[in-house]
Amino acid sequence: MSMPLTVVIFGATGDLAKKKLFPALYQLCLHKHLPRSLDIVGYGRSDVNLPEFINKQCAGIKEDPQYAKHLFTSRIRFHAGGYDEDESYARLAASICEYEATQPAANGIGNRLYFLSVPPSVFGAVVDAVSKHGRAPAGGFTRLMIEKPFGRDSGTFAELNQLTSSCFRESQLFRLDHYLGKEVILNIPTLRWANQIFEPVWSRQYIESVQLTFKEDLGTAGRGGYFDSVGIIRDIIQNHLLQAFMWLAMEPPTAMSAAEIVKAKVSLLRSVSTLYLGDGDGGGGFGSVFLGQYSRHGDEPGYLDDKTVPAGSTCPTFAACVLEVNTARWRGVPFLFTAGKGMDERVCELRVRFKPQPHNAMMGIVGHQNELVMRIQPDEALYIISVAKEPGITAEQVRKPVVMDMSYAQQFTGAYLGDAYERMFLNCARGDQSLFVSEAELFEAWRIFTPLLHEIDERRPQPVRHPFGLYPRGYHEWVAARGVTIRETWN
Ligand code: BG6
Repeated sequence: MSMPLTVVIFGATGDLAKKKLFPALYQLCLHKHLPRSLDIVGYGRSDVNLPEFINKQCAGIKEDPQYAKHLFTSRIRFHAGGYDEDESYARLAASICEYEATQPAANGIGNRLYFLSVPPSVFGAVVDAVSKHGRAPAGGFTRLMIEKPFGRDSGTFAELNQLTSSCFRESQLFRLDHYLGKEVILNIPTLRWANQIFEPVWSRQYIESVQLTFKEDLGTAGRGGYFDSVGIIRDIIQNHLLQAFMWLAMEPPTAMSAAEIVKAKVSLLRSVSTLYLGDGDGGGGFGSVFLGQYSRHGDEPGYLDDKTVPAGSTCPTFAACVLEVNTARWRGVPFLFTAGKGMDERVCELRVRFKPQPHNAMMGIVGHQNELVMRIQPDEALYIISVAKEPGITAEQVRKPVVMDMSYAQQFTGAYLGDAYERMFLNCARGDQSLFVSEAELFEAWRIFTPLLHEIDERRPQPVRHPFGLYPRGYHEWVAARGVTIRETWN
């Protein structure tokens, strides 16, 4: 890539820019994945001076001896402006043109990548302004990386989509779900389709349930104001876990191209039943969903103790739901999605639980079931829970569950796994949309969740209040009633 590239970050003074975006850009520069002519512009409303901005927003960058941090930060400039100030966008565009004009062999042409990390209230204004002022001259590309939320239901997504697609082509829109850039999720197609041992058993004939779990040992910690308008289903389940589900359950695409992957994902989503709340069981359990909310436990404050959360909020910080997939491969296999903040640990994993071994004369009833676990974080790993004969000279053979473990740290010693945002920036800069979210899949994703979310918003069912770090009471019974057995320990 020799053409100059300008990366503009809208919302540059925010948390995401500090924790993820600037460190990701630094790593990409360190590994020489971005062009030498690289201009990074932070756009924000507050009129901070550049050294202050860099000090604060680039504090999290881990400097590598191969690439001095100051070389990276010298590429950054800050542009202060309001999101509704036409004139500010015009000045920004002029400064980009000026930069492009000074680059050797660029003929005044450059590529432009706009990252929108802004609240929904100003999203439309930014898209409009980029379309009006910020397009690259002919010969260069203009691409937008957009962070969730992509609306809050089918209707609001349709409006948002109307807005973006009236200004930009689908090929210019890179809707980002950073879970699609996580190494273990990226490995699912290889695991399924490059190994002969998995695909033949990847169906209702051998699989009892699939469990997708996300837990965080953090609460909202003073940022509950935003979370309260969203809830855990919109925050995690409808996007991050649903994307992992798509890779686990889709039929093999005919090619690993963005277009074919989207076809396979959409076709899968079309076969998933729409969720409705259903009747309550007197606890947090309803027909389609189980809802919880963490409360104070020891020193850990509860959700309602967060000053930014409205008093008495019933917003779920924990939820579980079971998706039914109506295809020949999956009919009858429950896909259990569970997500919670304020839990005992930070973990995200996908667990495929196999049916029991049928009785056979030699083994009798084995009593243990195999599980294939994909641990997305922490400590990326793939492992299989199998059964082995316990070593020893005994009269009877004793069998016990053992773990066949493939931890990334051991298997790929010294490999650089990087952060999901690095891959997403890189793929966007390369124009590869295969890891981004298409409008077609979002229409389907919202179709599945919208009736349920509307009922939760309107009926405000009471979630089960559970102490920080513990599962809500009734969750395991609710899950068991849906045909899912959860192993007591996580491995
Ligand atoms: C974000 C959610 O999309 O993902 C956050 O809005 C959540 O609530 C975060 O904490 C988790 O991301 P990761 O990469 O830390 O697992």
